[in-house]
Amino acid sequence: MVCLGNICRSPLAEGILQAKAQAAGLDWQVESAGTGGYHNGEAPHKLSQKVAKLNGIDIAGQRGRQYVATDMDAFDRIYTMDEDNYQEVKRISGRQFKPEKTDLILNSIYPSENRSVPDPWYGTEPGYHEVFELLSNACDRIIADYLQASKYRQ
Ligand code: 4NP
Repeated sequence: MVCLGNICRSPLAEGILQAKAQAAGLDWQVESAGTGGYHNGEAPHKLSQKVAKLNGIDIAGQRGRQYVATDMDAFDRIYTMDEDNYQEVKRISGRQFKPEKTDLILNSIYPSENRSVPDPWYGTEPGYHEVFELLSNACDRIIADYLQASKYRQ
């Protein structure tokens, strides 16, 4: 899960997908990172923590880190919160970039529309709730699609 600061959106995305995967009995390792390194080592934004907690998810233990090229091979799927961060992931990954495993997360629920998860950084609490709702719907779909596809796999 990749955003700019790894402080508002992607920590929520990590917490949500990890919780939903666990609830579905899937042993997934979910991580998040930012394409900028300004908040390395910091806990998620207070409002991201608050909104996660109101929804039964604890993200307080997460710490910010920057996306690195080796993440491209370390993970099966890379989800970015918007187009700018998609382009940054591509740039940072260099020759390791794999378009087939990288996508904007909202394309899971709005295919090919390249919609952004709005950055709540400059806003107030309702913006964080809106982000939570979008990411929750996207993560539900990611898991449902995975389970559907795995029915046809041996
Ligand atoms: P995020 O939000 O990408 O959702 O974590 C931001 C957090 C910090 C900054 C920008 C966006 N910043 O400029 O420090």
